[in-house]
Amino acid sequence: MKKPLFTLIFIFLLTACAPFATAAPTAMPEPSQTPMVSEQATAAELSPTKQGQAEPAKKPKGRNQPAAPTSTNADFVAAEILGRPTDTSVTVNVVPATPMTIYYEYGTESGAYTLQTAPQSAAANMPLETLIEGLRPNTRYYYRINHNGVAGAEHSFVTQRAPGSTFTFDIQGDSHPERVKNQFDASLYVKTLSSAAADRPDFYIAIGDDFSVDTLKDVNPETVRALYVNQRQWLGTVGAPIFLVNGNHEQASLANLDGTPDNVAVWAQTSRNTYFPQPAPDSFYTGDAEPVEHIGLLRDYYAWTWGDALFMVIDPYWHSPQTVDNQFGVDRDQKKNRDLWNVTLGDAQYQWFKHTLETSTARYKFVFTHHVLGTGRGGVELAGGYEWGDAPHFAAHRPGWNQTIQQVMAANHVTIFFQGHDHIFVKQELDGVIYQTLPEPANPNYSWENETAYQSGEKFPNSGHLRVTVSPAGITVEYVRSYLGQPDEVTFSYTVE
Ligand SMILES: [Fe+2]
Repeated sequence: MKKPLFTLIFIFLLTACAPFATAAPTAMPEPSQTPMVSEQATAAELSPTKQGQAEPAKKPKGRNQPAAPTSTNADFVAAEILGRPTDTSVTVNVVPATPMTIYYEYGTESGAYTLQTAPQSAAANMPLETLIEGLRPNTRYYYRINHNGVAGAEHSFVTQRAPGSTFTFDIQGDSHPERVKNQFDASLYVKTLSSAAADRPDFYIAIGDDFSVDTLKDVNPETVRALYVNQRQWLGTVGAPIFLVNGNHEQASLANLDGTPDNVAVWAQTSRNTYFPQPAPDSFYTGDAEPVEHIGLLRDYYAWTWGDALFMVIDPYWHSPQTVDNQFGVDRDQKKNRDLWNVTLGDAQYQWFKHTLETSTARYKFVFTHHVLGTGRGGVELAGGYEWGDAPHFAAHRPGWNQTIQQVMAANHVTIFFQGHDHIFVKQELDGVIYQTLPEPANPNYSWENETAYQSGEKFPNSGHLRVTVSPAGITVEYVRSYLGQPDEVTFSYTVE
């Protein structure tokens, strides 16, 4: 795309797209089930300079984030994003800006689309979901959207890898788009995501604190929804299925429920599941099967197998009656009054976690959550505490559970436990389990955050993402650091056989 044309389109989007995002219905729409595709911007098109223009010049703390254009195509509020990949399907979600007819063309060769989904009628500002199914396992598919007869750009995805395959997945730590200049620079985020896209990962995992509601000036369905729409402009550029992990700043938690549909937890979780297709238990995924009033299935903890690896996402926030970290609307100082024995994964999640690990025959096992216990600072430093690891006092506090979380992971040979929250790269190990803390993807100060909380391990400052390659020879983890104005570099890597 030529720069003058791009600039004109971009200026148009700034004036034309923002109103769509704020004019959408108050009620959270359920994604329609239909096929679709869009002109998704590539990471290259969203150059740091251009993308930077979409950001407000200043974002004072305590203000609502303005809705930003999330697609370079004015026909869409948000370009397509992938989710829920299985052995035979993938789900695509797109948000049209105007009513339109959508279908997807796809096939196993680039440019040769031998199949297509049924046309669907899509409404303006309403996420439209399409299940592309009947696919072959262990196969790369190429697809493109067709809207109102106009074909979009080609993208691709991979169905479940077979055992013995070599593949890559990528993962990022807390993006915190609300912390502009302090911990977030949009141009740097685009650069990190562009680097991730170049890895052609089978999927991309975001570890939480990507949709912070607790610094919004006004918290209501629309302002919460805008956080999820806005994040699409970035995560959508990776071009891989996105898995979300719940963070404390999402405020999607049991402790925030009040029995009505009008509270921040309902708004956050509903927005999340409306704008990002996440897994629920089915023939491919296991996970949280308990619906919650005013939300439905939470899709907050889930597991799947891909190649030789088991992937498990666990959620500390949705099953703890006690507030886990900062309580919404309450001064953070109140955190010190908690009894952390009251913070829990809950019985259903614990039993699922233990059973899944005990019955998995996968050679490698990965566990992802926002943080040990969902709160605090540090990795292995906290792993001996409370439900996570206080074995001597466990029976008194968790009758019927015979192992702490750490004991369950160690006994079942979890390869790597991934966490965020502390905004720094640290690799540690405890009882044969690697504790991998994730850096921020877009911190322009490249700072060491919470470094003093870590008394051991390999430590590196921000920013960047992790590239994890799984192969029959073992696992390679690389910290790919991103810099403004400089090439990316692999700062540190390690292998696990
Ligand atoms: Fe964070």
